[in-house]
Amino acid sequence: MKSKLWIFTLLVTAAIISGCSESSSDSNGNAMEHSNMTEEEMADMEGMDHSKMTEEEMANMENVHASHTNPLPLNDSTGENELALPPLLEPKNGIVDITAQKGTSEIFEGVQTETYGYNGSYLGPIIRIKEGETVTFRTNNKLSEPTTFHWHGVDIPGEGDGGPHQILEPGATEDVKFTVNQGASTLWFHPHPEGATAEQVYKGLAGLIYIEDENSKKLSLPNEYGVNDFSLVFQDRQFNEEKQFDYQAVLNEDGTIGDTLLVNGTLNPKLTVGKEKVRLRLLNGSNAREYTFKLNNGEEFQQIATDGGLLNEPQSMKEITLTPGERAEIIVDFSKNDGKSEIALVNKEDAILLPFKIDEERTNSVEISNTLNDYAVTEEEINLPVTKKLELYGMGAAVTINGKQFDMNRIDFKQKQSETEIWEIFNKPDAMGGMTHPFHIHGTQFKIVSIDGKEPPVSLQGWKDTVAIEAGQTVKLAVKFNNKGIYMFHCHVLEHEENGMMGQVEVF
Ligand code: C2O
Ligand code: CU
Repeated sequence: MKSKLWIFTLLVTAAIISGCSESSSDSNGNAMEHSNMTEEEMADMEGMDHSKMTEEEMANMENVHASHTNPLPLNDSTGENELALPPLLEPKNGIVDITAQKGTSEIFEGVQTETYGYNGSYLGPIIRIKEGETVTFRTNNKLSEPTTFHWHGVDIPGEGDGGPHQILEPGATEDVKFTVNQGASTLWFHPHPEGATAEQVYKGLAGLIYIEDENSKKLSLPNEYGVNDFSLVFQDRQFNEEKQFDYQAVLNEDGTIGDTLLVNGTLNPKLTVGKEKVRLRLLNGSNAREYTFKLNNGEEFQQIATDGGLLNEPQSMKEITLTPGERAEIIVDFSKNDGKSEIALVNKEDAILLPFKIDEERTNSVEISNTLNDYAVTEEEINLPVTKKLELYGMGAAVTINGKQFDMNRIDFKQKQSETEIWEIFNKPDAMGGMTHPFHIHGTQFKIVSIDGKEPPVSLQGWKDTVAIEAGQTVKLAVKFNNKGIYMFHCHVLEHEENGMMGQVEVF
């Protein structure tokens, strides 16, 4: 195992070096930085014999390199299809039925694409539940392969968390009963079986969870689902010539990306909104791509929530970046836009992600409350000593946490229930610089205490379950588990997670 890893690392590095010498700058015109490598390392690489690599291996390596420095651009949305709205699903007599199933979806007109979904053929419903209520998720596996149901961001006992230990075989049913123990937030759910998480998510298994609480009901915020309150699940995909997903063919060890964006499963989406303030709940449900969301006209929007709850106050901003697994809620004010102006959500490279169509009849703009929450990192939390240290390192198949790859039979950390501990996570750069890892912990919402010793930006001063850690950064988190059990922590680039960038904490 060890030597295999070593050879892989060498191959990756070699491919990168040879790739880089062909063109010395990436798409942004930035010169490639090899200055972190010693001369010996460079000489070693140049002396490498590439003839032993198969063409497939070479292509694969170039693929890895491509995603690392020069991500495949996204096609613009033409806006020809109205965005699909996932159905709302509320408990009936305390029970929510959720079935993972196979199906086909007409993503391209006249073509059936084979997909997976929850209670449908692609993606899933929005499960809407309330703080304080006891619910049972009745999970059913109608796939022909094992899966799990993981509730990302939910404060839930370990045995119901749906990590790799809680495999549900085809045909099996399992009840997960728990009491909702957290405030208003937009969470999500997806599968987590070892070795198949990335592929099952890619094929369409992902749904949303809305939690409501008493405070959020009293606030003045757009909350009419499908009218002024929308959820947007962003996923990039690569279709083959038959317009099918072929995950194994496009799999990239450093994160599978695609040139085609689906929002809520809709290709070339547009969203019709009123001439009013609209709430958008953004989920980066992609395997690996990160998005920096902006408005094409450069105008500001307001962020009102992080992964796990409302910010204390609406925060004006021009762009927000979400790495895989992260969510944010934003308010966009369309009241000054008319039917003629073109307005769209775009990414950093200005690819059109979601154009808006303004319905001028709808003008019920809601005033946004100024105070939304009472989140705080306490003095006590700031002064707590670091008791858990993690080092994220490597790329491709050689990703590790504290030098180790995931082992289902190994508990990496123990932590006492209801006790806050400070986790310090360092993303150690490699010879090529390294990459951002979205670090996620199951079964908790944590607080970011600091990033490189500094208070996090306002946009991250709220409950989080996934935090983007750039190469070289050190992030301190205040982590508390309200339930007991075994929980995963991992990089949410799903291929990194599959490759073993994951560990386990046992809460006792
Ligand atoms: Cu989104 Cu381990 O999870
Ligand atoms: Cu990663």
